[in-house]
Order: sequence, then C-alpha cells, then structure tokens
Amino acid sequence: AEALRVGIAGLGTVGASVARVLTEKATELTRQCGRPITVAAASARDRNRDRGVDLSAAQWFDDPVELARTADIDVFIELIGGDDGPALASVKAALEAGRHVVTANKALLSKHGVALAEIAESRGVLLNYEAAVAGGIPIIKTMREAMAGNNVSRVFGILNGTCNYILTRMEAEGLSFDDCLRDAQHLGYAEADPTFDIEGHDTAHKLSILTSLAFGCKISADNIYMEGISNISQADIRAAGELGYRIKLLGVALQTETGIEQRVHPTMVPTSSVIAQVHGVTNAVAVETDILGELLLSGPGAGGNATASAVVGDIADIAKSRPGFQHGPVFGRPARELKPYKKAQ
Ligand code: HSE
Repeated sequence: AEALRVGIAGLGTVGASVARVLTEKATELTRQCGRPITVAAASARDRNRDRGVDLSAAQWFDDPVELARTADIDVFIELIGGDDGPALASVKAALEAGRHVVTANKALLSKHGVALAEIAESRGVLLNYEAAVAGGIPIIKTMREAMAGNNVSRVFGILNGTCNYILTRMEAEGLSFDDCLRDAQHLGYAEADPTFDIEGHDTAHKLSILTSLAFGCKISADNIYMEGISNISQADIRAAGELGYRIKLLGVALQTETGIEQRVHPTMVPTSSVIAQVHGVTNAVAVETDILGELLLSGPGAGGNATASAVVGDIADIAKSRPGFQHGPVFGRPARELKPYKKAQ
C-alpha cells in the first residue's frame, strides 16, 4: 500500500524522538498500519545537529510554514512549541491545505484549539493531540472515544512531570528545588522556559483541554486559579509529611451548580492515597462520571520517548483511517457546538 508521508516541524527532544521511533519501528508500524510511514519532510532551526537519526531522505525546509503549505505530505507534525508564531501559522497553513495535523502543543491548543478545530472539521481532516496532555497517557482518546455517553462531574490529576519529579526528589532525597529542576531540564522533561512548568501554566494549559472534553465547553485557560510550586520549601514538605500528607501539584476541574471551576495549585494529599503514590515524572489523571464511576490512569508524563509514543500513536491512527472516512470532532463535539465557558460563582 502507498506510504503515509509525514513532515516533522521541530526536532528538539520530542521531534527527534518521533523521527527515531518512526525509523527504528518502521517494520512493526508497517505491519500494524498496513502501510509504511515515511518522514518525507523536516524543519528545525539547526539542520546539522546530530539527532541520532538519518533524515537525509527528507526534504529540508528552513521555514515550517512553507513545509506545512508546500511539502508533498499527508500529515503535518507540529513539535515547535509556543502558543503563537510559527507553531500557529504552520498548523493553520497545514489544515487549510487539507493536511492532517498531529501536535503535542498544549499551549497552542489551550489558546487556539477551538478555532483550529473548526478549520480541521470544515476541511474533513484530523487534528490529533494525544501527546499534548499527560505525555504518554492515552487520556484524550479515553475521554473522547471510550467514555462516550458518560457525564463527567470532575477531572483532576498530576499533569506536569517536571513538578512531580521535583517534589518527589525534594522529599525522597532532600535535594534543593534548583538542583531538581536542573536535572529535570537535563532529562528533557521541562519546557523550553521552565517557568511554564513550575508556575503552573503548563498544568493549566493541559487542564483547560481536559475541561473542554469533560464538559463540552469552549477551552478557557483564562478562568483558572493558578499557583505553582516555586515557593514550596523542604520545611513545607516535611511539615506535610509529619501530618500524613504529601504535596502534589494538581489540576482540578469540576462542574458546580453555577458553572465550571478550574484550579491549579499545590495540594496536600493523604500519603496513603493512590495519587500520593505517583512518583517522579509520572502523571496521573482521574475522571469521575455517572456511568463509569471513577477512572484513574497513570504513566510517563514527559520526556522524549513517552511523548513520542503518543505522537506516533496519533500518526498510526491516521495511517489506518480509510479514505473518505468521516472523522469525529476534535474536542468530542463539533467545535461550533461547544458551549460557551460558564465560570462557577
Ligand atoms: N514540561 C512538561 C512536563 C512536558 O514536565 O510535564 C510534557 O508536557
């Protein structure tokens, strides 16, 4: 069968991992998808950096927007990052040119997701973003497809691997905040600007996407109470421990009688609770619904391979979809029919 041609824009930690997985797992993926997946085009700031993968067969573009618009590809993979600029321009260009898009960019979706979904839905192409929330955990497919018909009352979890890694090591090894953050950066967990991790923005971006899926509303990151972990000290962690608690940075969204409440802040959770056992870069997402009851998924939340796993899964979905197949809406309901966001009083 004809190969699915993908173009990758952005070859940082995640982009390079995606290119490596597509290459190293080519035989397995061809067998699973019924057709090969080839990296036909690529774009990054630095062409010559060694990324542990041979991209010489791919057409090179200095400008990701040009790649999105003109490369001979079926799928545009946006791994540039940022909520505007080239990430937004290239995703828009790809969708408008009728190409499927896969992105891991939670900041972009949090700000422009509904508008981009409208374009994708009007063109009949897919906008897949499993990697944007909780890294390798398949929470988007779970909430959007597997939980059809469920009424969600609450969704919450540990959504930032960097923060959970820092809090875990501060407690277990008595290390300083700054040392832990530096290690998280070296391991490829942190955002390009780690302020986004430690001040709660990244958790808020992810939470705002889950809120839309949970309650069928427009995405609204502006309506999130937000507090990060940069003020958490060893003394706080020890004091919580003495009382039988552990400190976790949680994102929480719930439906109240007056509207939706969204918040991100360090939370004392009982040491014996399941969420307190989520260590290191691991994320966990809990969803409470009327039919299913309570669901908890946990797994690797950040890092090249975990994120690449979700990106490759999204690409494989497209490779397997039949021509003419009518795709479901990006955020579970048609973008035009998402309810306005109603904030709790
Ligand atoms: N910086 C993010 C985190 C990466 O630490 O969770 C995954 O989105």
